Amino acid sequence: MTQEKWPVKLPDYRLDGKVAIITGGTKGIGYAIAMMFAAFGAAVVVSSRHQEECGSVAEQINRLGGTAAGIAADVGRPAEVKRLIRETVQRLGDLDILVNCAGVAITKPILEMDEGDYDRVMDTNLRGVFFASKEAAAAMVERKHGGRIIQIASIGALKGTNQISTYCASKAAVLSLTKTMALEWSRYGITTTALCPGYVKTEINAAQFQDEEFLAKTLKGIPQRRLGTADEVAAIALFLASDYSSMITGSAIVADMGSTSQ
Ligand SMILES: NC(=O)c1ccc[n+]([C@@H]2O[C@H](COP(=O)([O-])OP(=O)(O)OC[C@H]3O[C@@H](n4cnc5c(N)ncnc54)[C@H](OP(=O)(O)O)[C@@H]3O)[C@@H](O)[C@H]2O)c1
Repeated sequence: MTQEKWPVKLPDYRLDGKVAIITGGTKGIGYAIAMMFAAFGAAVVVSSRHQEECGSVAEQINRLGGTAAGIAADVGRPAEVKRLIRETVQRLGDLDILVNCAGVAITKPILEMDEGDYDRVMDTNLRGVFFASKEAAAAMVERKHGGRIIQIASIGALKGTNQISTYCASKAAVLSLTKTMALEWSRYGITTTALCPGYVKTEINAAQFQDEEFLAKTLKGIPQRRLGTADEVAAIALFLASDYSSMITGSAIVADMGSTSQ
């Protein structure tokens, strides 16, 4: 498609020349985002807590003709997050996009949650997002070229959901952070968005969806009567990382097959 003949500025989905970190990039939604970004030209850092898995996904991308490195970091530990950002810039030369996709859920009624359960979810889903975004934004500000920070939140941020109280609270807090980050970082050319998917079948909920009764009940609450796919979420993340979304910041983008419409 050539720009010249069309009287509108044609944006580009390509991410050539961009460096992106995907936390939680070894599995599920994060894996699909890492593959999608690499296919569209970004150099990708695949991160999770397990170096062997990060290395193996990075190797798969490199074999497919993309560019990737695997760097392990526990997002709940700010010192590890700092090292992840530093090593990314050292090894790939820059940082343009951060996708905070690492996330965990503990399924229990509130009356049975203990401090350990609470800390595990909050450390990964909120502390992780806060410090990874902070360190990535600092690197982007230092390099004076702006950037994109995409939080993989959830429709759990928008409504209560039985037995995943801490998960929903952590994701709601991420929506709040996304707004404040937009206020503080727009001046540096950094956009921040929170992508809120509905149910996608991955390891995070595999056990629940093995229960056919639970699956049938869940599908009844979804107007499209289906679960989403990791690839569909990755396509929206690509939009949020691309030129197409340059005027979106501080917003929650909901992709839930209609679940929160009722
Ligand atoms: N699946 C859904 O229905 C759904 C819906 C809405 C939102 N989401 C959100 O989408 C994101 C990805 O979910 P998913 O379904 O793809 O989950 P998943 O398949 O369980 O993958 C989670 C990823 O996060 C990594 N991770 C977990 N704890 C981490 C930590 N402390 N530090 C670094 N990495 C960590 C995991 O690797 P290691 O365990 O090896 O570290 C893995 O790569 C999550 O934020 C989730 O809340 C999912």
